[in-house]
Amino acid sequence: MAARRPLIAGNWKMFGRRASLAEIGALSAQVGGSVAALDIVLCPPAAYLEAAVAAALGKGLAIGAQDCSPAIEDAARTGEVSAAMIADVGARYVIVGHSERRTGHAEGNALVRDKASAAISAGLIPIVCVGETREQRSAGQAATVVAAQVRESTPASDAELIIAYEPVWAIGAQATPSVEEIAEIHGVVRESLADIIGARATATRVLYGGSVSPSNAAEIFSVHGVDGALVGRASLKATDFAAIILGHPAAK
Ligand code: PGA
Repeated sequence: MAARRPLIAGNWKMFGRRASLAEIGALSAQVGGSVAALDIVLCPPAAYLEAAVAAALGKGLAIGAQDCSPAIEDAARTGEVSAAMIADVGARYVIVGHSERRTGHAEGNALVRDKASAAISAGLIPIVCVGETREQRSAGQAATVVAAQVRESTPASDAELIIAYEPVWAIGAQATPSVEEIAEIHGVVRESLADIIGARATATRVLYGGSVSPSNAAEIFSVHGVDGALVGRASLKATDFAAIILGHPAAK
């Protein structure tokens, strides 16, 4: 089996302004030749996608959106942005099913799967997020909850997709699971993925997300089955995000 190429994605959420796009050039300068060994993706707010694509041009960095419509065809859907539009402005990835959308916008697994399918139809690579809440983990349900989310949120497609395991309680917190817990759930993700996409699960990248920082990145990247990270807060400043990227053993 070919080794899975590491991928580190930054999710700016609803932070930053046009001026923040200067971080893209700074990031490129700081990570240097590492772009040859790993995929680096930045997901700015939708309003800045096209400008971010322009800023990233020729730098070996890819741009992604944070959400997309589940509708494949153009439609009267005020406020929504289609996967086709995201692809049209030159972005290559899209996050779907982030817990802030599952919780704050009542998005369930079926909708997340439709969004991932729409992304694939448009030629984008979806980053499908899954993860248990604090209550579910305390009740010993982390593995079963994540397994069900993976099975129900992943389209049975031959196209490339990425899974991000993001325990809800670790997002925007100061806490992460232990390395053993991360390894366990990454194993669960890959097994559940195999139920949907078969042997291609082995080649599918599974990221960890939730409070990844320059101080814990190297340890998280060393965990078996972790192919990279989805980073929130620490991706907003090039120095922090570069420090995380350079903490990956594949980086140079
Ligand atoms: P965080 O966010 O790194 O700020 O915890 C991660 C995410 O929501 O993807």
